[in-house]
Amino acid sequence: MAAFFIFPKILFIFASLIALLYLVHMRSFTCRLFLLLFFPLSVAAATLPPAAAIASAHPLATQAGHEILAQGGNAFDAAVAVAAALAVVEPYNSGLGGGGFFLLHRARDKFEVMIDARERAPLAATKDMYLNQEGKPIAGLSIDGACAAAIPGVPAALVHLAKKYGRLPLKKSLMPAIRLARDGFAVSKLYAKQTLRQHDRLQAFPVTADVFYNQGFIYAPGEKLRQPQLARTLERLAAKGHDGFYRGMTAVRLVDGVRAAGGIWSQKDLADYRVSERAPVRGVYRNMRITSAPLPSSGGVGLIEMLNILQGFDLVALDKTERDRHVIEAMRLAYRDRAQYLGDADFVSVDAAHFLDPAYAAQLRQEISDPDKTPQPAKAEGTNTTHFSIIDRAGNRVAATLSINTLFGSGFMPADTGVLLNNEMDDFVLKPNVPNTYGLIGSEANAIAPGKRPLSSMTPTFLETDDEVVVLGTPGGSRIISMVLLAALELADRHGAPKDLVNVPRFHHQYSPNVVEHEAQAFDDAERHALEQNGYRLQGVPIGYGNMQIVAWSKKKGMLEAVSDPRGEGSGVVK
Ligand code: GLY
Repeated sequence: MAAFFIFPKILFIFASLIALLYLVHMRSFTCRLFLLLFFPLSVAAATLPPAAAIASAHPLATQAGHEILAQGGNAFDAAVAVAAALAVVEPYNSGLGGGGFFLLHRARDKFEVMIDARERAPLAATKDMYLNQEGKPIAGLSIDGACAAAIPGVPAALVHLAKKYGRLPLKKSLMPAIRLARDGFAVSKLYAKQTLRQHDRLQAFPVTADVFYNQGFIYAPGEKLRQPQLARTLERLAAKGHDGFYRGMTAVRLVDGVRAAGGIWSQKDLADYRVSERAPVRGVYRNMRITSAPLPSSGGVGLIEMLNILQGFDLVALDKTERDRHVIEAMRLAYRDRAQYLGDADFVSVDAAHFLDPAYAAQLRQEISDPDKTPQPAKAEGTNTTHFSIIDRAGNRVAATLSINTLFGSGFMPADTGVLLNNEMDDFVLKPNVPNTYGLIGSEANAIAPGKRPLSSMTPTFLETDDEVVVLGTPGGSRIISMVLLAALELADRHGAPKDLVNVPRFHHQYSPNVVEHEAQAFDDAERHALEQNGYRLQGVPIGYGNMQIVAWSKKKGMLEAVSDPRGEGSGVVK
């Protein structure tokens, strides 16, 4: 799962030796020639990655990215290929029917931007659309079926990435995904497991069931799944760009399908959809710089707020229980702000700078105290959504987290499209203080409005020290931000290697419910006992959660690594 290159280091040492020889034998022509040849190479070796690295949740998606790099593409072209391939081979987590965030770093001018491809509420959406006459949420309406789907952003992001940042035509970068959809791929164990889990739910959606099941039966691992309709939808996108999805045949089929199933999409919703370019949020923790997702994701704001709070404590000097208690409290405080204040800043006034301000974190530190004792049960979601990370040979980077929200999204697929639609409308607050599927609560700031983007927790992130660049992110719903936090602390406080960052045992507190969810290995018996004595309600998540994908470039060692979370079935490949 991990690989590295040490060639540049050897090159650097070799060039240094030549330089030394030059000093000793100033008049030697050979030495001058060698120096002339190797000095620029050694400088390049120190400032450029020695290869390219991709980590994603599926080996075929990682392979698709490398295929495009081998054809002369850059990290942004590879991102198109990986995202589109994931839509085919991991259809339960992301896809053309969903949205996401692509955090980019362009090496040539160090320009950094987040491509916001978050889904938008349809123009006919209303604040109370999921409430019954008594003002209570109608069970399942924001989760299952056409009514739950917001307007997808991923296809627009692929077009935008290729056009503005890529080197190759969209047509070329989409080719691996088209091939996988048209010719099929051998389904994995995870595919079989997820389709088994969702079998009963998806039978209510015949078009979807027809695509993902073999005449009602689960595909066994190794059997081939073909998605010819999705292949044709991808081909139209490849041929016509934005219009190939948001207008014309695909758009008509999507809107007709949604409306026939009781949804409220219009052609204008699709035709108007555009990605937004947003400035990333930034912070500093000890010697680590953080660049992450701005609103409408709460990910970057939450991550940096937690790190700012923790900056005021010497975590390294604390014993493990006290350290973890401080981390839990930082999570609680940042998720409280998420619930109370955060929403789509295009629609509501949110002073994000306030939440990123270390002076504000200093005030919050005063609030770290013993927890109250009124817990509610937490939900068990945690692997849906997907993430991939890329660094190319030029030093361009992409961290992308993509989603259709819960497993298999809304479950609804309009006929003749192959496009499984998201249920991202559930990420809005249906009613203040009523929890969504992740148990998250929220305020008016995240209420539904036409064209608005629901608040997200997706946290594609760059972490940088003087020696190292780490590109990371993970799926996991509301737990995404706390997972990235734990990885960031592992890097900054313990100089953890990428595999340590993905392996760190996970725990999570999201303010409400008042529960610490944790993987089995996160706390030993003594710590569990100590935390419970302190009033914390602990809830184990036995099979673990998340699926972190990291690529890391150690400039000092001239080493590149790509690590895929052992909790998943992905792959990290350096080439
Ligand atoms: N749908 C999960 C998120 O955006 O956080």
